[in-house]
Amino acid sequence: MLSRAERERALGQRSRVLWFTGLSGSGKSTVAIALERKLFENGRFAQVLDGDNIRSGINSDLGFSEADRMENIRRVAEISKLYLNSGIICINCFISPKANMRELAKGIIGPEDFTEVFIDAPSDVCEARDPKGLYRKARAGLIPHFTGVDDEYEPPVNPDIVINTHLLSVEEAVNIILETIS
Ligand code: ADX
Repeated sequence: MLSRAERERALGQRSRVLWFTGLSGSGKSTVAIALERKLFENGRFAQVLDGDNIRSGINSDLGFSEADRMENIRRVAEISKLYLNSGIICINCFISPKANMRELAKGIIGPEDFTEVFIDAPSDVCEARDPKGLYRKARAGLIPHFTGVDDEYEPPVNPDIVINTHLLSVEEAVNIILETIS
């Protein structure tokens, strides 16, 4: 059986999981997509997993109750482990609002391969950005349990990396992450 180490050697990289947590509108996907491209330009292979490619397909049976979010995160963590063993860098963008969800992911992936990246912006900034118009709908009562409106987000206590997207450009954010992981 091909080992992870052999695959990593062939790809010339160390695989890992970068776990982006933060509010909707904090900039997780924006930073992740830019990071994925920068890594690619540097000859590294990465894959972004986010609500768009996960909740539309494999997790389309899940909603946003506490239990469903937990199951969402559990499945994403298991999928990430497959990427990890293929030598691919996995960049996961999920609100993952509760500490126990992030702990679950870290346990499945393994702490040595798990980097917690807190994509942080004040909630009023995220709400003002409202890229998908969801905060507005949530305020109108159309989306119950919307994180940051009527569902709690627990900020990470001791994240490996903090990215303040209201203070940094996307490029600066990408560079900080690259410096930390290289
Ligand atoms: S998580 O809580 O299970 O980690 P996930 O990151 O997969 O959430 O999905 C969040 C995205 O789903 C948001 O960016 C938003 O587009 C959409 N969404 C729909 N309903 C909700 C809700 N009640 N709370 C948060 N996000 C929601």
